[in-house]
Formats: sequence, C-alpha cells, structure tokens
Amino acid sequence: MELILDTADTSAIKHFNEYLTIDGVTTNPTIITKSKKEFHAVIDDILSILNDDQALYVQVLATDCAGIVEEAKYIHSLRKQNIYAKIPVSNEGLKAIKECKKLGIKVLATAIYSAEQGFLAALSGADALAPYVNRMDNLGNGVENVLDLIQMLKVNNLPTKIIAASFKNTRQVHELIKGGIQAVTVPTDVLQNMMDHPMTDIAVDTFTKDWENAYNRTTLKS
Ligand code: G3P
Repeated sequence: MELILDTADTSAIKHFNEYLTIDGVTTNPTIITKSKKEFHAVIDDILSILNDDQALYVQVLATDCAGIVEEAKYIHSLRKQNIYAKIPVSNEGLKAIKECKKLGIKVLATAIYSAEQGFLAALSGADALAPYVNRMDNLGNGVENVLDLIQMLKVNNLPTKIIAASFKNTRQVHELIKGGIQAVTVPTDVLQNMMDHPMTDIAVDTFTKDWENAYNRTTLKS
C-alpha cells in the first residue's frame, strides 16, 4: 500500500519523509492557499524535497473541459515524471479526463462523493481515484462506499488505483487498510496520531529506568 501526505506544508513533508516511507504528496487549491505562498513557490519547494519515485498531485482550477485540459497540460509540464493532474469528477471533469487520457496526461480523479462517480471516472481512463472518505462519512458512510468501489473495480478488471482521501481520524484509515485499499493520502495530524501511542513512551521509559537501576547507565554497552 502507498502512503501519501495530504499537505503542502514543506516542513511537515520533510519531517514525515525522514521518519516514514512516503510515496508522494497530494495538494488541492485549499491546501495550497494554507501555505500562504505563491503557487509556483509551493510546487518548487515540494519538488525540492521529493525524489523521482515520489509522486506529486496538483489540482486544476478551471471548471470547463477545455480549461481543465489546458491546466492539466500545464501541470503535466511541471515535472518530467510522477506528476498527476487532479481533476474533480464534475460532468466537465469526466469529459476532460477522457481528453487527458488521449494526451497521455496522468490523472487523479478527485472530489469523489460516491462509488458510482469513482467507477465512471475509472471507465473514463483516470489513473487513480480520490474518494473523500470523511466528507462521505458526514453524509452517510464513506468507508463503506470506498470498500464498494474497491469491489466494483475488481469485478470489472479495471486497473485504476484508489487513493482514499479526506481522513479525519485513524479509524477511517485503519478500516480501509484492512479492506485492501491501494493507497491513502493522509493529513499530517491523522498520520502523527497513527504513529503515536502514550503506552509506547511509558514502556520505553520503564525499560530505561530498569536498566539504569541495575547497571547505573542508560546505554547498552558500558
Ligand atoms: O485530498 C483531498 C482532501 O484534501 C480533502 O480533504 O479534509 O478537505 O475533506 P478534506
């Protein structure tokens, strides 16, 4: 499974890149604006951290098919490899995904609020799908919809990858990993919560104290 960061915060990207195996970074217009930097500066900063094997996902702003395709071409030109245009699955977006497929532009279909929308984007040639788990949870059951989408792609032999997105808690991520999700893009607070457990720190503290009491040092070798 791929682990992707859903952030444009470059210090957070550097941090998690050091501690975990990260497969890429997803952004969207809201995430970019939170960086308080200009679009180009954010993209350059993120690309200076990522290696060639780590993917970058950048979203279009245009809402009509021709505009979406133009912006997708531009996103495609930002890097030699491993760059995806994120296209929301509006009606115009679905049409644009078909065009991008013909042009050889890699597409992550995004803003997916139902398994059916995701399935249609896969039929249109999207390379990957980003269903919004928490936002769907707020409307019903996000995890169940994504598990259905996994199944729908499987029985139809569609190669499209699902990159589950919009997480608000570790339980949502847990359920999808258990269900066989191929990739998750996780906000940094949720990822840090996946890493941390207070009992681990207490256990380590006890090991150190026991050792120190017995040998009067806190290192393995004397
Ligand atoms: O990658 C899509 C994701 O950023 C949407 O997440 O937290 O705004 O629902 P959220």
